[in-house]
Amino acid sequence: MSFQDEIAAQAMRGLNDSPNDTLEAVLKRRYSRREMLKKGMLAAPAMVLGSSLIEGRAKAAVPAPLSGNRDCGLGFTPISLTKQDDVVLPSGYAYQVLLRWGDPVLPGAMEHDFAGQTRERQEGQFGYNCDFNGYFPLPHHGAQNSNKGLLAVNHEYTDPLLMFPGYVTGDPTPEQVDVEIAAHGMSFVEIQRRGVSGWTPVRGSRFNRRITGETPIQISGPAAGHAWLQTSEDPGGSRVRGTFNNCAGGKTPWGTVLTCEENFNQYFANRNSLEDTDPRKAAHARYGLPGGASSRRWENHHARFNIALEPNEPFRHGWVVEIDPYNPSDIPRKRTALGRFKHEGATCVIAPTGQVVVYSGDDERFDYIYKFVTAGRFNPRNRAANLNLLDHGTLYAARFHDDGTGEWLPLLYGNGPLTPENGFHNQGDVVINARRAADLLGATKMDRPEDIEANPVTGKVYSLLTNNTNRGVGGNPGTDPANPRSPNRYGHVIEQTEAGGDHSATVFNWEIFILCGDPAEPGHDTYFAGFDQSLVSPISAPDNLVFDCAGNCWIATDGLQNGLAGNDGVFAVPTEGPERGYLRQFMSCPLEAEICGPEFTPDFSTLFVGIQHPGEGSASTRPDDLLSTWPDGGIPKPSVIAITKISPGARTIGS
Ligand code: FEO
Ligand code: CA
Ligand code: CA
Ligand code: CA
Repeated sequence: MSFQDEIAAQAMRGLNDSPNDTLEAVLKRRYSRREMLKKGMLAAPAMVLGSSLIEGRAKAAVPAPLSGNRDCGLGFTPISLTKQDDVVLPSGYAYQVLLRWGDPVLPGAMEHDFAGQTRERQEGQFGYNCDFNGYFPLPHHGAQNSNKGLLAVNHEYTDPLLMFPGYVTGDPTPEQVDVEIAAHGMSFVEIQRRGVSGWTPVRGSRFNRRITGETPIQISGPAAGHAWLQTSEDPGGSRVRGTFNNCAGGKTPWGTVLTCEENFNQYFANRNSLEDTDPRKAAHARYGLPGGASSRRWENHHARFNIALEPNEPFRHGWVVEIDPYNPSDIPRKRTALGRFKHEGATCVIAPTGQVVVYSGDDERFDYIYKFVTAGRFNPRNRAANLNLLDHGTLYAARFHDDGTGEWLPLLYGNGPLTPENGFHNQGDVVINARRAADLLGATKMDRPEDIEANPVTGKVYSLLTNNTNRGVGGNPGTDPANPRSPNRYGHVIEQTEAGGDHSATVFNWEIFILCGDPAEPGHDTYFAGFDQSLVSPISAPDNLVFDCAGNCWIATDGLQNGLAGNDGVFAVPTEGPERGYLRQFMSCPLEAEICGPEFTPDFSTLFVGIQHPGEGSASTRPDDLLSTWPDGGIPKPSVIAITKISPGARTIGS
């Protein structure tokens, strides 16, 4: 069983089996919308085509002008699904590999040495499995420089079979484990763009920094100091070593990065060492922590990963971490007010009230969509005044009603069932056990929420639900209007409109924007916002998204090859106007990789993406059987690439 298979199996064991109503019953009442379903789909699953879509169609006769920048557009010739072991782009575009696993980034860092990697080498080098990318212009926050900036990159996890010449699954050496720990976390790297040489990293820049699984991190917010966060190494429960499984993230309006701890459960072992009467055992089970050995076996060499020795250590993971890229000595902070779950990303938007709203998905089958609303207001004139805004506010989970409306349920101590009778004695208990709090409040069980982000042109919020092959299977929950497929092989996209366009609102309207898949497949049940499906590109497994200056949504996929005959890709789709729903493929990535962290420069002339885990499933010990040899023709290396337009005309990507 590969690492990823085993990790997926662990995730299965962490399934949400709480008894919330999945709304299947009310689904059956939705036939009044049959006329619309007939228009867009044949074998139509139950779905909400909400009021805003109807309005959108009505407006289509007299298209409302986008307030977005018309410099951005989608004029490229779409590519098709392909199985090439390379990056494939439309004609007129080129890419360069900007940062590879093992590239030296810190001053004095050593070159990568495949046969002789050490913790010390890896700590100075670019980490493994790059995911989120955040571009921060230099020389300071607020600059709009598109030729010189800091790239903040997540390193989600490690593939040791491809990292070492002689890795034995289930029996890693202490040195290998230490290299893996050092290959996790983040890299901050200054990059610059110069004429014909294009983008290059600035080795040894004073801004360059590595965050690893050993970096000291402060715990702040309502769980700081909580009894369940105390360990033998940190009896105060306020300081933790390292951050793991940093998947997607976000950028705050004050120029810090939010990096998200996702599948942290895979690093810990031996939940079954706890007594059944110990409430921590059930708490760990809800987050999918292994009953016995972990797949990585780090517990063999580090006590902190062994629940039998450190039963509280897992509570110190699963958070959103905030780091200031412009201050290389900044101490990262785990912002516990945003709740503990398998955070995919954390994207910010400023509400009309001045409060900052952070959207975040919990990437697990049948888990929830969340948002956090700060108590304080963003101060655009005083950066320092914003640096602890994320320690105070309200965390909400989403409930999607069958009629196209929805509400945000506050995860507040004392609210409804969040009381001592149910084991909640303070807000720290609530955020540590956010999943259980949302279970009790009746949030809607979703099909693996990945990235969620507000469109900066329209304010509408887009949630990517990557897939859920267990929906309606066995004893698992069946369909509901927001998760209308059973099973959901290809994933879907939900569009939300917060009441009054105010992101701090507690009610919203919603509708299905896209049901992914291949419309050319016989019996398909795909849907692309009502657009002519004979024109769109097939897509599956949506994971990360970003918007261009016209409000077009760019989607990167993870696992497309599990459902369709191609590698993962980047796709672009207008969200408004006559081409709303006209999704087109822009890029395809190498074999057995996923595409992560799409990010534009401020002028939209460069698109950065991460190529994560190329060749995953193969091993360096069998070089003839490598599933990918990208980018250099040998052992595959996860890398960040920069895509630019080389044909004449407008420089913006997509135009
Ligand atoms: Fe790490 Fe949800 O993808
Ligand atoms: Ca990933
Ligand atoms: Ca992801
Ligand atoms: Ca994913």
